[in-house]
Amino acid sequence: MTTLSINGQTHTVDAPPDMPLLWVLRDLVGLTGTKFGCGIAQCGACTVHLDGAAVRSCVLPIAAIGDRKVTTIEAVDTTPAGKKVQAAWRALDVVQCGYCQSGQVMSASALLSQVPNPTDDDIDAAMAGNICRCGTYNRIRAAIKQAAREA
Ligand code: FES
Ligand code: FES
Repeated sequence: MTTLSINGQTHTVDAPPDMPLLWVLRDLVGLTGTKFGCGIAQCGACTVHLDGAAVRSCVLPIAAIGDRKVTTIEAVDTTPAGKKVQAAWRALDVVQCGYCQSGQVMSASALLSQVPNPTDDDIDAAMAGNICRCGTYNRIRAAIKQAAREA
């Protein structure tokens, strides 16, 4: 059994210690907002926060989490940066098909919580691992900048 703090709640799950967090979230805890894309840390669709930092949950074994707090897209609006990012995403209508977007929002909100006024280079560095097959990159950049202005 492994005990995890997810979105402010304690969950004890019966799962092998090497099970990636993504599958615990989706299949055992029922939080399906975090998406499976590649499974090899190459696309960013599975991004969640671990103590506020963006991590790829598809390659994170639950045994490596310990006491660190997991936050998923379902609770990102409980963080100040996440709230601003979601509002900017809605205002600029960023989403196209949506599949990549929970990961995009998680990476963007982790960036803004650490760098309140990011430069284009900061945005490039933080968002480079989040792939969008619909090509919403320009709106993502604009929304990050709008969210930063709200800070
Ligand atoms: S599913 Fe995790 S990075 Fe692609
Ligand atoms: S909105 Fe479709 S993959 Fe990004």
